[in-house]
Amino acid sequence: MHYTLCDLFSDLTQNAVEAGANSVTIVLMETDQAISLKIQDNGHGMNPQQLAQATDPFWTDGIKHPGRKVGLGIPFLIQTAESTGGTWNIESNHTGKTGTTVTCSFDLTNIDTPPIGDVTGFFRQILSFDGRYEMDIDFSAERGEIKCSANVKRSELLEALGLEEAGSFEDAGSLALLGRYLESLMEEYYG
Ligand SMILES: Nc1ncnc2c1ncn2[C@@H]1O[C@H](COP(=O)(O)OP(=O)(O)O)[C@@H](O)[C@H]1O
Ligand SMILES: [Mg+2]
Repeated sequence: MHYTLCDLFSDLTQNAVEAGANSVTIVLMETDQAISLKIQDNGHGMNPQQLAQATDPFWTDGIKHPGRKVGLGIPFLIQTAESTGGTWNIESNHTGKTGTTVTCSFDLTNIDTPPIGDVTGFFRQILSFDGRYEMDIDFSAERGEIKCSANVKRSELLEALGLEEAGSFEDAGSLALLGRYLESLMEEYYG
């Protein structure tokens, strides 16, 4: 199976949640020509040395995934963007508690750019990571006459499903409902 842009986006968003963020903001914009993503978190951030290590493909903190010798998300972002005419940027602040902001964009007209993959599945996955966190997703897409935009907040979705107490979409039933809801929001574009 191909590693898609959405797989990459999902790994980068998981980093934000793993950094202890309780607030993660996602802005995804898509056209026929390009897709861009911004992930902003208020997690523990990285100091300049950690940031330099994170962009090195042969380095991982060895804590989150014991036994794994290499990190994947960030080096893959860099390699994919740089080999396909895309862009990437990571800003991180270790001391000011401003967390990390990752932005990237990909040229969909470049034949070497990986396929986008499943955007609805990406949203469903990042909304259902373990942990208590707020997540704000802003999606907009445009293809010719077709324009689609959606805004979802994790806390509101949990509340709508009566899961505020649980704090997560834990069972298969809620995950399926979440998936169907996201599909309905975006069916104008992907339907
Ligand atoms: N949003 C983030 N906030 C804080 N640290 C991060 C963030 N993203 C990445 N990192 C740091 O960079 C390292 C490398 O990330 P990544 O390339 O995804 O590999 P992995 O998650 O497998 O270690 C992480 O282990 C973590 O220490
Ligand atoms: Mg990672």
